[in-house]
Amino acid sequence: MNDTELKREIINLKKEKKAVILGHYYQRHEIQELSDFVGDSLALAQEAQRTDAEVIVFCGVHFMAETAKILNPSRKVLLPDMEASCSLAESCKAEDFARFKADHPDHMVISYVNCSAEIKALSDLICTSGNAEQLVRSLPEDQKIIFAPDRNLGGYINQVTGRQMVLWNGVCTVHDAMQAEAVLRLKADHPDAPVVAHPECNPALLKVADFIGSTKAMLSYIKKSPNKRFIVATETGILYEMQRENPDKEFITLRDDRHCACDDCAYMKLNTLDKLYRCLRDEQPEILMSDDMIERAKRPIVRMLDMSRQLGIIK
Ligand code: 13P
Ligand code: SF4
Repeated sequence: MNDTELKREIINLKKEKKAVILGHYYQRHEIQELSDFVGDSLALAQEAQRTDAEVIVFCGVHFMAETAKILNPSRKVLLPDMEASCSLAESCKAEDFARFKADHPDHMVISYVNCSAEIKALSDLICTSGNAEQLVRSLPEDQKIIFAPDRNLGGYINQVTGRQMVLWNGVCTVHDAMQAEAVLRLKADHPDAPVVAHPECNPALLKVADFIGSTKAMLSYIKKSPNKRFIVATETGILYEMQRENPDKEFITLRDDRHCACDDCAYMKLNTLDKLYRCLRDEQPEILMSDDMIERAKRPIVRMLDMSRQLGIIK
């Protein structure tokens, strides 16, 4: 089937199976186009919690689909490619993390949502890049905290809040590889363009950024900004929504620098139209988890959503 036929079949199957397609901003543009809802990790978790669709097809990576299953266990949750992992989730194995936690017995554990259900089950509170700073600020000043698995996001939150959270040594290999030098070269060529960056980027890059935030926060910043040109330090999938929302603005990415072509997440890009079609047709591959794991991983995620509502971050 060609792409047009695949798209038609996906739309028909979606109706027939009463399915909803949830897509992350880093997905291929043709998948974002077909998604019923596109968002950042926080908004996708909320959407997964409230949907009444019988089948959720999650076009994102494994930890996101897992979160959807945890929040809505009676639904069938499908992920077009089970290999769609995340370097942050891979960096933090439950056995190692349990030891790390045991070494810091009086610490609260905050885990970034980019981790496995096993790590969530070992955590007190989950956060996303869209709420991490506010959640941490809302905790008592003397609260000792372990933050896992992203040392760049954790380091950034430490810097802006003045906390000294103990950090797990994981990185997003995509954002961590983006070079401040490349941004500075692009800035020299385009002095009018503010730099927007995801907090998973390394500290040197964050230092030269004009705005730091989650995928959704970067989109809001760009929409409100009077500037016409932006240097974007994050995964390229987001350009689809940036351009769609701002047809009159121009986006410069790190791949426009001659020495850096490091802004595609291979995991995110594993989901293709063909795999999405087969996934809907066969209702496979499905996210399956034990009731016990769902129960234990759910507590810190629900706590995050409740706190985010109380703090006015989400509705
Ligand atoms: P957001 O929550 O900002 O969408 O980020 C998810 C992610 O995987 C970033 O690499
Ligand atoms: Fe994980 Fe980085 Fe890919 Fe996001 S962009 S899914 S953090 S590897």
